[in-house]
Amino acid sequence: MGQTLEESPKAPSATRERVFSGIQPSGASHLGNYLGAQVNYVALQDRYDAIYGIVDLHALTTIHDGDTLRSLTHDMVLDLLAVGLDPARCTLIRQSDIPEHAELCWLFDTVVPVSWLERTPTYKEKREQGVDNSNALLSYPVLQAADIVIYKATKVPVGKDQAPHLELSREIVRAFNHRYGPIFPEPQPVFTEAPVVIGTDGARKMSKSAGNTIPIFAAPDEIRRLVMSMVTDPLRIRRTDPGRPEVCNVCQLHRFFGDDFESIWDGERSARTGCVDTKKLLAERIIERFRPMRERREQLAAEPDYVEEVLRAGAEKVRPIVEATMAEVRAAVGTGPRRAAR
Ligand code: AMP
Ligand code: TRP
Repeated sequence: MGQTLEESPKAPSATRERVFSGIQPSGASHLGNYLGAQVNYVALQDRYDAIYGIVDLHALTTIHDGDTLRSLTHDMVLDLLAVGLDPARCTLIRQSDIPEHAELCWLFDTVVPVSWLERTPTYKEKREQGVDNSNALLSYPVLQAADIVIYKATKVPVGKDQAPHLELSREIVRAFNHRYGPIFPEPQPVFTEAPVVIGTDGARKMSKSAGNTIPIFAAPDEIRRLVMSMVTDPLRIRRTDPGRPEVCNVCQLHRFFGDDFESIWDGERSARTGCVDTKKLLAERIIERFRPMRERREQLAAEPDYVEEVLRAGAEKVRPIVEATMAEVRAAVGTGPRRAAR
């Protein structure tokens, strides 16, 4: 029964399951973001009541200049609109426009043992990368849990790197519900066919901090340059050596840029084609795939007020949901005035 309601695009939002995901405005969207998460943001917007947040408060853990953060936030909204998020079918918000995310984070902080946060893999990684060891960096996944459950969202489209954060979100919900009663549902991640996209170095996860990205809106020549620089199968030294598509990241990416990837793989295995051919083809396919999105992004960027209008409408739309959740939460924890029983 729930199934039919959930699948129907016309179902009123109150009966549809809710999706939330957040993306940091920390730089240009790349193939990892797109294939690992944004593809699902777009796919889920018609089947669920989907809310997507540009999480500028999270980005403050690494970006310490106000003008830079504001302009990266604007750019990320453009990226999301260009890849296909439609403000008529989903809701886009800027996290800092909804201060209750931070309020709920604080309330969650009161139930979270520091040891849970210290052992979070992303916290350790970021410290190794030299990110300032602020209290906010430690509490980063707590704010993430608040982002999701303030909307009582149950489905969270993210890349595989976020799985530990979702696990922690569920633990936080259990701890909070245990103390105050069953207020929040436990959110689950939703992965794409490409939950971990490897970078141009052929070794590490594609990420801005690793400097191994292919930005999806880069100029065609830049995309060609980056694809040509990709590390392929390290054992394929001569053009005549057979390639191993399973370990070659260029071959792996071809899976997402055409139905004929099997024949491309066969060409590599038999050394009928060389890495250069396979890379050239991939670069052209990436450029073609993103060409209409790049054009749309340029059009949207030329409308100076559009982004702020989208964010203002988004903030207005989520207001009643946030007020309802926070009324319930404040009543349970004992903050704010006593409310008349309804
Ligand atoms: P970030 O740019 O780290 O804020 O990530 C935004 C979204 O993209 C998150 O859902 C990440 O899990 C996802 N993501 C980032 N990098 C990758 C990658 N290399 N492979 C798959 N998903 C990714
Ligand atoms: N931590 C996520 C990342 O780095 C961003 C994020 C913040 C998020 N809040 C979220 C993702 C809520 C999903 C749901 O990519």
